[in-house]
Amino acid sequence: MTKVWGTGQTLMADEAAERSGTAPELAVIVPSFNERENVPALYRKLTAALAGTSFEMIVVDDNSPDGTAEVARALSRSVPNLRVIHRIGRRGLSSAVTEGMGATSAPFIAVIDADLQHDETILPEMLRLAQSGDDVVIGTRYAGGGAMSGGLSATREKGSRFATQLATTLTGVNLSDPMSGFFLLRREIYEDVAPELSRDGFKILLDIVVTATHERRRSGGALKVGEVPYSFRARQSGESKMSPLVVIQFLGLLVSKLTRGLLPTSFLLFALVGGSGVFVHLVVLYIADIVLHFPFAWAQLSATLVAMSSNFALNNVLTYADKRLKGLRFLVGLLTFYAVCSIGALANVSVAAWIYQASPDLLLAGLAGALMSVVFNYSVTRVFTWR
Ligand code: GDD
Ligand code: MN
Repeated sequence: MTKVWGTGQTLMADEAAERSGTAPELAVIVPSFNERENVPALYRKLTAALAGTSFEMIVVDDNSPDGTAEVARALSRSVPNLRVIHRIGRRGLSSAVTEGMGATSAPFIAVIDADLQHDETILPEMLRLAQSGDDVVIGTRYAGGGAMSGGLSATREKGSRFATQLATTLTGVNLSDPMSGFFLLRREIYEDVAPELSRDGFKILLDIVVTATHERRRSGGALKVGEVPYSFRARQSGESKMSPLVVIQFLGLLVSKLTRGLLPTSFLLFALVGGSGVFVHLVVLYIADIVLHFPFAWAQLSATLVAMSSNFALNNVLTYADKRLKGLRFLVGLLTFYAVCSIGALANVSVAAWIYQASPDLLLAGLAGALMSVVFNYSVTRVFTWR
């Protein structure tokens, strides 16, 4: 074979590695947060389930306070096919998964929760489907044979089914379990969509499938998705990180995908929080004026400060959950947030006044001013507050 530079050469290197048996056939990415009991147990279960397949397990841990990373590292010293990515100062399931995917050269990549809720024994079947041509194979709890088996409470099961419906309707991609955290794909699929994925939130599979489907449609093809049913198990140790915030982040992701990513999830969440601020402002204004009898200017000032503070706190846990500021950095962040919003308010007033001068339409001028401050505050706080 002649040597060529660029892709050709990379391909040759990959092939050689595969032939000599150094590159595993399958990488299993395991996002973890506070799962110290579960990680070694999962490694043993994977080893049993994948006997005969060369695989590596990659734990992506966000510096769990319970020391999951240390436990995983200790184990990885005694086995050849376990690696740990220990992320510090970052949080988030989706970004943990994509980081793990980017760290392997295996041709097939699976993602499984650390908490043993997913049934690892279907992995060989998932791999077989992908090897025979499926682009993405999903472990599903809803297709024939799949079941909840007490893995979710009744309320969460209803919520999960509703989210599935909503996702199907909004994205036009029909899957029985798009919320699944358990799936397997060919590495090229990940490489194709990686630049367009949203790093925020929980729902990485939906994001990958929707993005890859759009790309395929553009080139006249279709994404081949396989499904393998399984029973969702109950969690043995540790606790779930699912919360109402995660649900709102998920809705943000859906709307963002509807705009084909034009409006980032974080912008939509930022705007949503801004909307909640208007409500907070009015409530505080009312209390300060009617109940506490503050003079109007003082009432308005208090309402503004409280609304800005609540916007900051909400953005910190919702929009920027992955960059959440704590302790002293929380205080510094709050101050920069006040400063940016004050300048944003000036920008708001001048734009609104300028438009009102050109055409005296109160609603138009008001909305344009508000939009101006949302865009301004969003862009500038991304630079100064949540870096
Ligand atoms: N690195 C990292 N960073 N891992 C995380 C983070 C994070 O911020 N948050 C959660 N994880 C890990 C957990 O340690 C676990 O291994 C996995 O991601 C799933 O988190 P859980 O908190 O157990 O989620 P769940 O069981 O409520 O939800 C699961 O089932 C849902 C189906 O209803 C997940 O698989 C969801 O993706 C899935 O939709
Ligand atoms: Mn779980």
